[in-house]
Amino acid sequence: MSTTDDRPSADADGPEEPTNRPVPADHFREWVSRPYVRRIIVITVVLTLVIIPMAWLTLHFMNLSGAPASPIMSEIEKTMFVFTVVSAPLMAITLAILLYSIFGWGRVSGDKPPMQESPAIRGNRTATILWISVTSVLAFFLVVWGMIELATISAYSYGATPASDQPNSQKPLVVNVTGQQWVWTFEYPDYQGVTSATLVVPKDRPIYFNVTSKDVVHNFWAVEMGIKIDANPGAVTNTGVTPTKLGTFNIRCAELCGLHHAYMETSMKVVKPDEFDSWIREMGGRRTA
Ligand code: CUA
Repeated sequence: MSTTDDRPSADADGPEEPTNRPVPADHFREWVSRPYVRRIIVITVVLTLVIIPMAWLTLHFMNLSGAPASPIMSEIEKTMFVFTVVSAPLMAITLAILLYSIFGWGRVSGDKPPMQESPAIRGNRTATILWISVTSVLAFFLVVWGMIELATISAYSYGATPASDQPNSQKPLVVNVTGQQWVWTFEYPDYQGVTSATLVVPKDRPIYFNVTSKDVVHNFWAVEMGIKIDANPGAVTNTGVTPTKLGTFNIRCAELCGLHHAYMETSMKVVKPDEFDSWIREMGGRRTA
């Protein structure tokens, strides 16, 4: 058996430089002062300042959040905006590195040698501490914000607070919502005999929904009100909202429920209290409570 080993010897050109050894703190300062790092920082700041107003324009002028028509939806819209603002710098730095990689580093003209790779900052204490603390603070802020908003929204939607304990002491209007393939039916137990395929409610009065289904699982979604809850066969789920805007809004099914799921929609009319009373009379309703 031959003992010849033709693999290249590790010692042939001397030991290789380890690339991941710790870099002292002043290397970080030197790294930050490099022109391309500075340029990336500048691009990040500029992009951040562009992304934030764009997010605001999208939310307020294009109404992508669905024009809040209740305090719940206003809270949700506020949360969408705050989360966008907080994540804007992260999106900006990612885009800045991407753009600089495409248009900055790649350019080598004439016989100018390509730019030297910078020393690795992996293992650098300053960089590590900075990265971990910034991302932790951001994540912690988002968790706390989310929990506070969730509690606020739950209180508004009656899901967690009994109707009699609501901040708005007005007696809620109860509506029984039934989903079936592929229509919604609204029944008003306070007014005997009133059943409608369109949801009509008075403005500024708390509405309390008992939601169920006759067949498969549907999901009752009042888009501009910011409420969405499963409609399960054989069970009743509850949610609530106080509409604060007059107008006609969208109700959709938000759970895949068969062939015509996409068309399982109707409208919600928020009207003045006296208009609501005349609608009830027109529908032949009699007060039961
Ligand atoms: Cu009902 Cu989708």
